[in-house]
Amino acid sequence: MKEWPLAGKKAWGGRFSTDTHKQVESFTASIDFDRRLAPHDIAGSIAHARMLGKCGILTKAEAEKIVSGLEEIREEIARGEFRFDPGLEDIHMHVERRLTDKIGEVGGKLHTGRSRNDQVALDLRLYVREAITAIRDGIRTLQKVIVSKAEVHLNTLMPGYTHLQRAQPMLLAHHLMAYFEMLQRDRERFAGCLVRVNVLPLGAGALAGTTLPIDPAYVAKLLAFPTVAANSEDAVSDRDFAVEFLSCCAILAMHISRLAEELVLWASAEFGFIELSDAFATGSSIMPQKKNPDVAELARGKTGRVYGNLVSLLTILKGLPLSYNRDLQEDKEPVFDTTDTIRRMLDVLPPMLLAIKFRVDRMQAAAAEGFMNATDLADYLVTKGIAFREAHEIVGRIVRYCVESGERLEALSLARLREFCPVFKPDVSKYITAEACVERRLSPGGTSSRRVSEAIQQAKRTLQRP
Ligand code: ARG
Repeated sequence: MKEWPLAGKKAWGGRFSTDTHKQVESFTASIDFDRRLAPHDIAGSIAHARMLGKCGILTKAEAEKIVSGLEEIREEIARGEFRFDPGLEDIHMHVERRLTDKIGEVGGKLHTGRSRNDQVALDLRLYVREAITAIRDGIRTLQKVIVSKAEVHLNTLMPGYTHLQRAQPMLLAHHLMAYFEMLQRDRERFAGCLVRVNVLPLGAGALAGTTLPIDPAYVAKLLAFPTVAANSEDAVSDRDFAVEFLSCCAILAMHISRLAEELVLWASAEFGFIELSDAFATGSSIMPQKKNPDVAELARGKTGRVYGNLVSLLTILKGLPLSYNRDLQEDKEPVFDTTDTIRRMLDVLPPMLLAIKFRVDRMQAAAAEGFMNATDLADYLVTKGIAFREAHEIVGRIVRYCVESGERLEALSLARLREFCPVFKPDVSKYITAEACVERRLSPGGTSSRRVSEAIQQAKRTLQRP
């Protein structure tokens, strides 16, 4: 057996006398998916090499040679010239092997004071950090579209629902701004998650730290990590940050899915509240009349895989003994898949929403139906000194009468109303129009145009902040 040079051998070749079985190689390889970590792996390695040079563990010349080799490899990968080989298992081995091919034996010094265990934890944190920034930007774009639509529809009435039954009239702008609030919580949640992602695990070594005089704080500075992991064993086995990221994504997807469901309902003939732009709808191969809300349906449907990825990672981690176990290699695909899915949702939703035409006539007509002013009619009686419980009872009887006679509350004559309760005065007719019902809701966070336009102004200020 040829003992030198080491090129072509496994990283653990010294201990082994037989080659790895082909099936084992393909079963354990992660290069097909972890190649996506390449830019982060290289960035982490460059910072590590610089630190080794600064601490005198490598000479300055060695560190510089390694850094420029890594920079060349980064270019090769970016240009698509890098050759991936399943026999080399993962992205870390690929980069290191290529480095040794390029700069010779000194390349083997890069892994000094480091293990793939702390290395891969770092790579994933760098990946998630970048994903969070992109997702938070995407959420902001969606919020901006929502605010712009709300501004246009500050005077559009629609039915507000509970139990999917018409409940009280409200402004379309108010309804849209409810989604702004949900998305704002998402954006804040991701920012909170980022604090826990932003902890440097490098320096933990395989699990227990290293005997070499390394300086993790310097690596943290180079990679813009505000903190360094406090416990090396936790550093290599912790994937809480990824679970938290996937949870944030799951909650965001749930919000998107609720919006998507409303768009699906509203695009139906039964609701008829929106008209989708042709550019964001699809047709049927058999029914020529169809215009389907497939984008909204898929946003709703893809939420399933986003939930699945969270449960998948939680299940991988459940009962895993400390510290690193190879099971942890399975953390990457759920994170990648969720990031891709969420980013695609956030790419397509803003332009789709922007192109939606709200059918104001249908919404306003619906807002005037369904006795949604019944609460206000009871409130009217309260203003005339009737106890609310009694007022509720009186209005209940009036509604029952209207249901039987097919009339609307606001169409009843004063004389008819007085048969139910003598305190009704001529001012009642103005009191129970849908507009009046909406505009009286001046309580904080209520649907009156005054409160909603304040909410819109506040939202615009919020969107200025990072
Ligand atoms: N591909 C591995 C992963 O993703 C890298 C770390 C491997 N470490 C080890 N000791 N086998 O987790």
